[in-house]
Amino acid sequence: MVMASMRILIVGCGYVGLALGGRLSSSGAEVLGLRRQGDPDGALAAAGIRAVRGDLTRPEDLEAIPGDFDAVVCAVSSSRGGAEVYREVYLGGAKNLVAWARHRRVGRLVSVSSTSVYSQTDGSWVTEDSPAEPPGQTGQLLVATEAVFTEADRSGLVSTQIVRVGGIYGPGRGHLFQQFVAGQARRDPSQGQGQGRWINMIHRDDVASALEAVMLRGEGGRIYNAVDDEPVLQGRFLQFLADQTGLPLPPPADPTEGPSTRKRGTTHKRVSNRRLREELGWNPRFPTYREGYAAAIAALVANPGAVSPSSAEGPMMAP
Ligand SMILES: NC(=O)c1ccc[n+]([C@@H]2O[C@H](COP(=O)([O-])OP(=O)(O)OC[C@H]3O[C@@H](n4cnc5c(N)ncnc54)[C@H](OP(=O)(O)O)[C@@H]3O)[C@@H](O)[C@H]2O)c1
Repeated sequence: MVMASMRILIVGCGYVGLALGGRLSSSGAEVLGLRRQGDPDGALAAAGIRAVRGDLTRPEDLEAIPGDFDAVVCAVSSSRGGAEVYREVYLGGAKNLVAWARHRRVGRLVSVSSTSVYSQTDGSWVTEDSPAEPPGQTGQLLVATEAVFTEADRSGLVSTQIVRVGGIYGPGRGHLFQQFVAGQARRDPSQGQGQGRWINMIHRDDVASALEAVMLRGEGGRIYNAVDDEPVLQGRFLQFLADQTGLPLPPPADPTEGPSTRKRGTTHKRVSNRRLREELGWNPRFPTYREGYAAAIAALVANPGAVSPSSAEGPMMAP
């Protein structure tokens, strides 16, 4: 349980950080949220988070943050940038945070990573002990970033945990659902016995509760996967959406078009959340996409024209 006296810093307080910060703040913790733009729309203040304007890539901005912290959660993103941004923000940012934590009292440092570090393509189940050897540069930079945090734990500098998060969906976020609603989704029959690749999802609110569980009860130096209970083949997910909404099942992709619908590359694997569930007692509110998408589907069925991706309680989308 979050102690009312806890002081927590969220570095990169965006979609996930805001949900986490709101949750922690309503439990009574003092929550600070760092981002470059401060709090342009007042969302942090509304969630009870004190906005701190600053850039993780600038050590002096970290120095300017006052005080010590019971926990720091790094949920910064690449803002859709490529390898150079990954290098600067993730890897450089990790080094800056660890150096900063050297002369602060930081109880623990939780870093958000991604299940994209698993590059398996055989449809197998993967756990935190499975190889994480992505072939691409961005994936390799994520692995290098994780190593900075893990090494900081090993050397006794600060207790760190890594949370590898699957494809996040929730209000106003996602990709495949949006494509489906817009009639732009394509089925990918190349894997999964004609049903496409496995996708591993998690609702934003469950990412927040997973981060809280790791922050409070996670073991130092340990990695946790944060995904829901049920990976789903892309084609089955689209069939589910078609059945529930009455919209047409998308046609198969043109094999000459390339992997435009494969936002997370061509991996084909099922990510296990067993460690998070069994070791930390984490219990997702939305154990599968069926529960997680129920509200968005109901809204879509009730009012097909009114779904706006930018709406605060808008559609929920899959990666
Ligand atoms: N979306 C997914 O499906 C998915 C899947 C797996 C893992 N993840 C990971 O989950 C994490 C959180 O994702 P999200 O969706 O919450 O991202 P997000 O909405 O883009 O939020 C990230 C926040 O980081 C801030 N930021 C970016 N660069 C910064 C910097 N140099 N210094 C300080 N703040 C900075 C941004 O605000 P400013 O622009 O104001 O700085 C933004 O508020 C990311 O690490 C992402 O890679 C996401």
